[in-house]
Amino acid sequence: MDTTGTGTGDLNGITSRLDVIADLGVDAVWLSPVYLSPFIDGGYDISDHCAIDPRFGTMADFDAFIARVHQLGLRLVMDQVLNHTSDRHPNFLASIKGDEDAASRYVWRDPKPDGTAPNNWLTQFGQPAWTWNHKRHQYYMHQYFKEQPSLDLRCPFVQDTHRRELQFWLDRGVDGFRFDVVTAFLFDPSMQDNPPASAEVQDKVAGDNFVPYTYQDHKYDILPGDGAAYMEKLRDWVGPDIWLIGESTVGNDSLSLAMNFTEQGRLDGCYTTDLPQGLADADTLERIFAQGTDLQRLPGWLSSHDQPRHLTDPALARFYALLMAVLPGPWLIYQGEELGLTQPTLDKKDVTDPLDLLYWPDGPGREGARVPLPWSGEEPGYGFTDGRPWLPMQWPTAAADERDSDHGVTAFYRRALRLRRTKGWNVATVSDYMRDGDLLRFTLRCENGPFTAWVNYGDAPIEAPKGHVVISSEPVEDFIGAHTIAVVDNASGES
Ligand code: GLC
Repeated sequence: MDTTGTGTGDLNGITSRLDVIADLGVDAVWLSPVYLSPFIDGGYDISDHCAIDPRFGTMADFDAFIARVHQLGLRLVMDQVLNHTSDRHPNFLASIKGDEDAASRYVWRDPKPDGTAPNNWLTQFGQPAWTWNHKRHQYYMHQYFKEQPSLDLRCPFVQDTHRRELQFWLDRGVDGFRFDVVTAFLFDPSMQDNPPASAEVQDKVAGDNFVPYTYQDHKYDILPGDGAAYMEKLRDWVGPDIWLIGESTVGNDSLSLAMNFTEQGRLDGCYTTDLPQGLADADTLERIFAQGTDLQRLPGWLSSHDQPRHLTDPALARFYALLMAVLPGPWLIYQGEELGLTQPTLDKKDVTDPLDLLYWPDGPGREGARVPLPWSGEEPGYGFTDGRPWLPMQWPTAAADERDSDHGVTAFYRRALRLRRTKGWNVATVSDYMRDGDLLRFTLRCENGPFTAWVNYGDAPIEAPKGHVVISSEPVEDFIGAHTIAVVDNASGES
């Protein structure tokens, strides 16, 4: 929500709408980066980790925001980018000028004798991970855009700075952190070339192969062992009560990475960036259950600022919402999915995300999900701004009305959230899962249970269970229809 007419949302805007979020029945708000930034990568390129970017307001606005968060009984989880800084960060600028202390914070390396880059590593966005600097006659490493030089997280200066930055926000009352790209934090100091990915990995990621990153076995640039153990430092710095989640980017096996990073004394949860696509079919969920994955450590999610919105058709909004509601563990809801918003189409001329532009028009389509939310039906600002929105908004006129409807998608999210909390599905354990073609059925064992979730992923209806249906994504009578979930109270009959 924009309160200044600039077309960009701001902290006062969010504060003014926080009651809507609290009303959904969520526990916490995840705030994406609002730090000082040149905004090459949506604020994930930070030039001062302890300052608010003026486009979003002031530190006083931040304090008012967090006060309101707490007044509404919510908690605040702040995004933190420890892996890299902006190339405008004073330390990176100083390193270019020859300040060797500053340079030791980053990953500067000499070229090979033939002048080429130190190794074959690639950025997760698909380019070589090394950029030449003619002043230092060295390459620097970056795992994302070249404007995001990677920090050397083994460097004591870097660790000390991170500890102080986290403490700065804890002192302002922050309750948790979402750590960006945790799996990219540490690399093997030998910096050897990554070998090609195994045929098995290549097959698994075949659909995502529009970036060459997936052709490599990330044996040396992602370190599951040391990298995961590094989380213990972060835990030590913030203490046991601060909620920490990390983002595990697609590597060789994102699920096992996520589990390593959340062992005792590390992060509370780690979400994997390849999961949502998988949740669209029964296989992934079955695999997660079969592996005995601790779902408390694997936040569920569907849409994010990094992916096109998961809905292509609003009819499935309730199906996916209920799927998340019946999966124990944290559930991350991305702004607007509670309105059933679908992915908007943007013109190339309006797009600002360099990643979308790099592969335009083929993907990944991150910026569509970032189009501001509608607060009314009126174009061009839809109640979000009195000015010109930073991305064109073309929502259905009735989109904002969802919030006030008793039968809309928002009302369904509220119900699902209330049930998962009051029945205890969020802390349940899953047992007795059964797979039969397009049907996946599992039991949630919890204090007020048990309940059985019937997930019909297929196009054909299946016979409905006997017993009281507590909630379903579509009405259920004798049959559970196509793409429908029903949750049955086991105490009410045979399930
Ligand atoms: C994370 C962020 C993404 C960003 C990248 C680099 O994946 O979610 O938006 O581009 O990190 O910081």
